[in-house]
Amino acid sequence: MRTQIAIIGSGPSGLLLGQLLSNAGIDNVILDRSSKDHILGRVRAGVLEEGTVGLMDRAGVGARMHAEGLPHDGFSLAFDGRDHRIDLTDLTGGKRVMVYGQTELTRDLMERRAADGTPAVYEAANVMPQGFDGATPFITFEKDGATHHLDCDFIAGCDGFHGASRKAVPTGAIRTFERIYPFGWLGILAEVPPVSDELVYANHPRGFALCSMRSKTRSRYYVQCALDEKIEAWSDERFWDELRRRLPAHHAEAMVTGPSFEKSIAPLRSFVAEPMRFGRLFLVGDAAHIVPPTGAKGLNLAASDVHYLYSGLAEYYHDRSNAGIDAYSERALSRVWKAVRFSWWMTTMLHRFPDSGDFDQKIQEAELDYLTHSRAAETVLAENYVGLPY
Ligand code: APR
Ligand code: PHB
Repeated sequence: MRTQIAIIGSGPSGLLLGQLLSNAGIDNVILDRSSKDHILGRVRAGVLEEGTVGLMDRAGVGARMHAEGLPHDGFSLAFDGRDHRIDLTDLTGGKRVMVYGQTELTRDLMERRAADGTPAVYEAANVMPQGFDGATPFITFEKDGATHHLDCDFIAGCDGFHGASRKAVPTGAIRTFERIYPFGWLGILAEVPPVSDELVYANHPRGFALCSMRSKTRSRYYVQCALDEKIEAWSDERFWDELRRRLPAHHAEAMVTGPSFEKSIAPLRSFVAEPMRFGRLFLVGDAAHIVPPTGAKGLNLAASDVHYLYSGLAEYYHDRSNAGIDAYSERALSRVWKAVRFSWWMTTMLHRFPDSGDFDQKIQEAELDYLTHSRAAETVLAENYVGLPY
């Protein structure tokens, strides 16, 4: 087997890159160790920056996103029993975000790939990127009891934080940076109308809470929890009670509750691997970086990585120029680190840290006070939330 670009991973990174490459006439094959159903069964965040929306349009798969997605012009910070709205559109000269579940974005890309008949191998075992330090990279993998060999020009490691691509890089060639947060997020999905038309990020002495949504009838809620929390200890009733206790009274009283159909706990970490290119292997998305979900940057950073890599590969094949692929790692990391900073800052401002003292508490209060009395401070938050330029 041979292709131009071998893509490991059929999440948003791999699928979006694959679609853009296919549209540009650049052959690619996607390999994933999971099944389509498993991939589509994962619940992920759903706030898209305009850059991500634009890439979906450029890939030709934006129709359902525009039909079903919810454009948002702002969100609220809730603390001290009150709300403060951040008017994204006013503060950024007209920009907004789109609320559209990552699962749906992945489904749209997956279905388009299948409809086009573009090659993708699911439930591929032992996918291994090899030879990427030379001119003839290849991938080996097992499927249906046989070992397969896929020759290619380049490998895109879109296989997430736990994937094989970053692990295939020699230890001495890669540098990692990490911060693990001393708490997690307990999240639920429920077929109940959202408590507010826009997202509400709450700072409360009992801990952080987030009111989000998937549609006007499906809500996504989170409460900060200890790392040793067990899902079994959280009945729906306990979850709803805790969520309402962390919100201003007008939200708590208006909250429509109901049975959850998904409940999970996710740890929070910041992680960056440098560089993001090793010869003919490129790391993309979660394979190279992880952010706490507070700033809703995970999917959007995957999208900007895809933009930089796709542009470089198109330049390589169409203009016979290496400039774009040679600049990929530096360009991607510049935007990654700014989003990592923003996500760390929002997480630090909104969560209760077990070891934080009175001074830390006063700094948090000052941060929120400054934000609610300074247009300059609001603008910094808004321009990062809607997404910095590519
Ligand atoms: N071999 C083949 N496929 C693999 C391997 C492997 N060794 N390891 C992981 N994969 C596949 C997974 O099954 C998954 O489908 O790679 C894919 C990685 O997808 P994601 O983890 O979604 O990563 P990415 O596409 O970069 O999307 C980033 O997803 O996790 C969220 O918050 C994150 O929103 C961000 C987005
Ligand atoms: C979500 O809807 O799951 C979501 C939204 C915004 C975030 C994190 C998660 O910052």
